[in-house]
Amino acid sequence: PETGCLSIIVLGASGDLAKKKTFPALFHLHRQGFFESHDVHIFGYARSKMSDDEVRNRLRGYLTPCQGCEIIREEDASKFMGLIKYVSGPYDAEEGFLLLDKEISAIEDKTERSSRRLFYFALPPSVYPTVCKMIKSCCMSKCHLVISPADKGGWTRIVVEKPFGRDLDSAEALSTQIGELFDESQIYRIDHYLGKELVQNLLVLRFANRLFMPLWNHDNISNVQIVFKENFGTEGRGGYFDQYGIIRDILQNHLLQVLQSVLPINDEEVVIGQYEGYKDDPTVPKDSNTPTFATMVIRIHNERWEGVPFILKAGKSLNSKKAEIRVQFKDVPGDIFKSKKLGRNEFVIRLQPYEAIYMKLTVKEPGLEMKTALSELDLSYRQRYQDVVIPEAYERLILDTIRGDQQHFVRRDELKAAWEIFTPYLHKIDKKEVHSVPYKAGSRGPVEADKLAEKVGYVQTHGYVWIPPTLK
Ligand code: BG6
Repeated sequence: PETGCLSIIVLGASGDLAKKKTFPALFHLHRQGFFESHDVHIFGYARSKMSDDEVRNRLRGYLTPCQGCEIIREEDASKFMGLIKYVSGPYDAEEGFLLLDKEISAIEDKTERSSRRLFYFALPPSVYPTVCKMIKSCCMSKCHLVISPADKGGWTRIVVEKPFGRDLDSAEALSTQIGELFDESQIYRIDHYLGKELVQNLLVLRFANRLFMPLWNHDNISNVQIVFKENFGTEGRGGYFDQYGIIRDILQNHLLQVLQSVLPINDEEVVIGQYEGYKDDPTVPKDSNTPTFATMVIRIHNERWEGVPFILKAGKSLNSKKAEIRVQFKDVPGDIFKSKKLGRNEFVIRLQPYEAIYMKLTVKEPGLEMKTALSELDLSYRQRYQDVVIPEAYERLILDTIRGDQQHFVRRDELKAAWEIFTPYLHKIDKKEVHSVPYKAGSRGPVEADKLAEKVGYVQTHGYVWIPPTLK
């Protein structure tokens, strides 16, 4: 095990991401005792001048109780706050980073052990290259402090958040700039969907169950839908969002990890939309064509998946909030029950809310008659794992960065492949060669999107709604 000082430096400490996600995740890790075996110190860095106490007071309001706890214990909060120090300085000049290094070193020098430094970039990507340069020249881990063979000699790692570029070229340029300063083994590109419990379950489900082995191919599967819906708009984030749009914000990263063998996107198999009212946000230009909704069909050109559409759908301001993967099987040939077809078998992985894995089946309706009915085999986590606390994605991923485990992070070649898929269509949107169709806030999205899904083979089951057992 590694020993010695672990400094976690949150750059952009006063921004939204740091307040809402990074610090609360660090707090939960601390409260659950994950930092106990480390000598942890947390540093906030940003441009605004503030005292340590001012920063602590500001952050206090954003801490949330851990899952399974009703309230935050004051004692836990103040212990955590005690770990935080703040340094202010610019992102593009050495003075602030030299000061930061001095503060970190002062603590490391006391322990005389190897120094581990984790820099969390809660910053706009435009400053990533400069900040990387500053870290490289002023703030690298002082590995020479190694005093025992058990010590690994310390390390410096950086954690970066999307958006990693706007298209293939800008992403590659950014990767090259960062790659000149840090090794791939030091770079942790976060896609927080990879930290979600049910996403982490995908590999196990797929490869540890005999049941799926013979079924998992184009002979049996008609289509796969990967859906992300939010029932709120871009409130307060219009300025950021309008620069990127739903394809860069959600589809390119959270919804897509199967990259090899993907064919170029066919314009006929895309519907983009924008909810009515989006442009009322003063930070959004009045002529914005930025999509807040997209349905895109991805085709995988390999032996297993040839002919099976992967329908990616994501939207803001829709009628519900959920993220799920829905694998729809083909119809059963024939109909020995002479009944109206009720709906296809579906295997659904519900990421959120109410984590569940369920399978839609046709069964005999209980009772005297020989009638068929749709039902489900349901593994709902809140019911099945009542006493288990499911960690937040950010907690899990930050812990991985400390442990040096990169398996749930985005590698440079993966990032490139994802941009290759989306860039041609994104350029058409940017040049206004394709247009976002309007849809009503609070609706299912544009009707054209449902028509497209139907056209490529998805059969919606009418009259059947899965209700999480906890809500029944
Ligand atoms: C972020 C997007 O990456 O993910 C946001 O930028 C989106 O637009 C968010 O709201 C959704 O994450 P979660 O974990 O709340 O589903």
